[in-house]
Order: sequence, then structure tokens, then C-alpha cells
Amino acid sequence: MKKILYITANTKPEKLSTSKTVSRIFIDKIKDMGILTELDLYDMYIPEINYKYFQSRATLVKGNEYLNLTEDEQKDVAVIDLLADQFITHDTYVIAAPMWGLSFPSKLKQYFDCVLINGKTLSITDESVEGLLTDEERHAVYIQSSGGDYPQIMSRQVNHGLTYLKDILKFLGVKGFHPILIEGTEMKGIGKEKAMEKAISQMDKIIKKIT
Ligand SMILES: Cc1cc2nc3c(=O)[nH]c(=O)nc-3n(C[C@H](O)[C@H](O)[C@H](O)COP(=O)(O)O)c2cc1C
Repeated sequence: MKKILYITANTKPEKLSTSKTVSRIFIDKIKDMGILTELDLYDMYIPEINYKYFQSRATLVKGNEYLNLTEDEQKDVAVIDLLADQFITHDTYVIAAPMWGLSFPSKLKQYFDCVLINGKTLSITDESVEGLLTDEERHAVYIQSSGGDYPQIMSRQVNHGLTYLKDILKFLGVKGFHPILIEGTEMKGIGKEKAMEKAISQMDKIIKKIT
């Protein structure tokens, strides 16, 4: 039984968004494999990280340091705690986003800042920093739509959302990273329909890898 966390980071409603439309097709294909939780990052409260929330680097405050925070700040710490715990309890992540300025929309980074917590998803000691999501096999599928078409060879240089997610998820211990790129939605000769069709055609192969 898979525990699927479907995360979207886009201000557009689903029917106007190519990344959300393609992702919904993917979700419909896999949703019967387990339990599905959906997070629309632009329709929920994601705290903005504040240095006061940490007793050291990525360790959340406790005790008196926590009690000295304002009520709103305490609420932020509680939400961060919950978001990190929720991430741990899932094993399949489907992340949908458009490319904005060669990366993904900022709410997704804000979300990952809340998930990267010492003692939960990662362990920080004087000697090392390592991911803790190694207790079971986890997979992430990143569905990204972009106006341009970026050849794979250019990916490291220009596709910063993709490389960030690939690197951070690998670091955390998520075993598989599977991009589905909807590329060239605003290019003459490709356009939304063709770009979506190509992305959809890759899905079954990826589903075999994550199951
Ligand atoms: C604020 C903004 C920034 C964008 N930046 C890029 C970019 O850097 N590179 C690119 O190829 N397309 C860029 N685009 C185009 C979108 O990535 C493209 O239209 C995509 O298909 C939108 O996906 P959606 O329909 O799921 O929102 C940008 C669009 C917006 C609104």
C-alpha cells in the first residue's frame, strides 16, 4: 500500500495549468495503489522560515526558547513540525510545478525549508549531515511544465528546479527520482498539446519503476 503525497506549487487552477492537468492524469493512474494526500501549496499556510524557530541550524526550538516566541511564531513552529512529520510518513511524492525563472515557484522552496528538519528528515552532527529517509524505498516524480524546451545536456545549467529537487531528495534518502517534463508549451512547433502528449506517453514506464 503506497502512501502518496501529491504536492502542487502553482497559482493557476487545474483546468488552466498544464503541469496540474498532466499530474492529475498521473495521480488518477496511481491513486488506487494506496492512500493519497494532496497539498496545494498556494492554498494552504506554509510558514516562512525565521531564525528564531531554530535552536541551532535546522533543529526546531523547544522548552523556554519555544515559550518565548509569540503565539503566531509558536503556531509556525507547530506547522513546520507537522509538515516534516507528514513528509516522513509518505513513500511516494508527486510534485507538480511550472518553471518560473528557470526554477519552480518559491512556495515549493518554502515548503522544503519546512521539511528539512534535524532529527526528523535529516541528522546533523559535528561530523556529518545526512538524510534519514532510508528506512524504506521512496520515490519522487517531478512533473514540470516549461515554456521552453531544454535539451538534457543543458539541464544542469538551466533547469534549476529539477536539479534542486533531484539533489535534495537524493540527499534525504529518497531512492528514485523520476522527472516528467512538459517542455515547449510556448514554443512554435511544439505547444501545449504536443508537450502534454509527450509527457503523458512516459507515464506507464515511470509507474513500473515506482511500484
Ligand atoms: C512568472 C513566470 C515565469 C516563467 N519562467 C519561465 C522560464 O524561466 N522558462 C521557461 O521555459 N518558461 C517560463 N515560463 C513559462 C511557463 O513555464 C509555461 O507557460 C508553463 O507551461 C506553465 O505551466 P502551467 O500551465 O502548469 O502553469 C514562465 C511563466 C511565468 C508565468
